[in-house]
Amino acid sequence: MVKAIYDFGLIGLGTMGKNLLMNMADHGYEVAGYDKDLSKVQSLKDEAGEIYGAETMEEFVASLERPRKVMMLVPAGKIVDYVIADLLPLLDRGDIIMDGGNSFFKDTERRQEELKGMGIHYLGIGISGGAEGARRGPSMMPGGNRIAYNKVRPILESVSAKVGKQPCVTYLGEGSVGNYVKMVHNGIEYGLMQILAEAYDVMQRGLGMSNAEIHEAFTDWNEKELRSFLVEITAKIFAVKDEETGKEVIDLILDKGKQKGTGKWTSQDALNVGEPIPTIDLAVIARAISAFKTERVAASEILHGPSNSVIKKDKKTYVRRLKNATIFSFLVTYAQGMSLLQSASEEYNYNLDLEGVAKIWRGGCIIRAKMLEDFRKAYKKDANLTNLLVDAGIAKKVNKTQKDTRTVVMDAVKVGVPVPCIGACLSYFDSYRAARLPMNLVQAQRDFFGSHTYERLDKDGFFHTEWE
Ligand code: 6PG
Repeated sequence: MVKAIYDFGLIGLGTMGKNLLMNMADHGYEVAGYDKDLSKVQSLKDEAGEIYGAETMEEFVASLERPRKVMMLVPAGKIVDYVIADLLPLLDRGDIIMDGGNSFFKDTERRQEELKGMGIHYLGIGISGGAEGARRGPSMMPGGNRIAYNKVRPILESVSAKVGKQPCVTYLGEGSVGNYVKMVHNGIEYGLMQILAEAYDVMQRGLGMSNAEIHEAFTDWNEKELRSFLVEITAKIFAVKDEETGKEVIDLILDKGKQKGTGKWTSQDALNVGEPIPTIDLAVIARAISAFKTERVAASEILHGPSNSVIKKDKKTYVRRLKNATIFSFLVTYAQGMSLLQSASEEYNYNLDLEGVAKIWRGGCIIRAKMLEDFRKAYKKDANLTNLLVDAGIAKKVNKTQKDTRTVVMDAVKVGVPVPCIGACLSYFDSYRAARLPMNLVQAQRDFFGSHTYERLDKDGFFHTEWE
């Protein structure tokens, strides 16, 4: 009979799970792991002897101190339900289940509801930072019952990433908010990645820069305003050579984007709550278009772009402009994501503290960036800020960089290099700052063909015109 001595248990011993357990053990916690795949249990035992590797679910649950704290790190979807079903008969009232995967927030709500009657607490915890983050300190986005959270708070705080001494984890609220915030994190991640991909395309196809030059440019960008994990790894990617061929790996990678779904969910739910996030939408779409590789190759022979496909400008000056366009686009993308969180908070009664979100995204997660501290400050100054772009400090930055963004978008259009996300950032900015949009015409058209009525500028009420 195993003794119930372990502080924390984790189901799903993939790289993330194993690394998170090792991180916990490093911080002095007694932890246990379990996986249906016994080879993974064995590999945990081989790598970390101090961690208990259980070979059955029964042994695993029996090894945990009460209330039991069990985290699942398994693929989102049905598997989460299967694991819960296996766990349930072995658990007692007051035990806590945590889902650390990228689960859809509505699934979390359903599971919370189902388990509530049994006295089991269920926390949806978004975890970001990949395998390395799990090992050295991830950013964690927990939601669910506060009392249950307080029971796991010490361990989560000690293993999370730190900015200064502040942990990159904080209680976000009741219900599914943790998964929602992680979903939006991933949406922003899609946007930023695509912006960097577009910048690369402009550098390579538009300016004819070599991989070495691109590596240098991104390395330089990572020094100041754009300092971030994604720019850092992007710079590194351009310096890596394939051992077999000696060529740069980047040139050997098939240009077909894959996705697990979190970006798409972000766009879908943004449409549901009525929040415009065009950059994220277009980042999802960019991956979808890229997937039609065979069609694209065929179309490239049939459909023609401009005869001039080169941006004939001084490379060095132009890379500076492109950097400004990237700063601008990053700011606008975060602004869209944060604004979505604000709308979702109202829609789903999350009562979300956006300063808290910015705070825990400053370290550990994939979208960590120097500019997150500016966002945190902006929300500290005004918790109800309607949009990050109208914060005085951020407004100054977008106002300063918008001109270069226009140049980049115009040149890219001229030479036929697609810049959907950078372009979407600019359109969003121009729409958001427009005191008047041409929607009066759309309203007139709706009224014309469907008598849908319209409101007027000069008086209150709803009006209809006999247009013909
Ligand atoms: C993270 C990542 C992580 C995962 C992405 C990949 O925050 O650590 O976002 O969750 O790597 O979900 O997503 P796609 O496969 O959809 O690009």
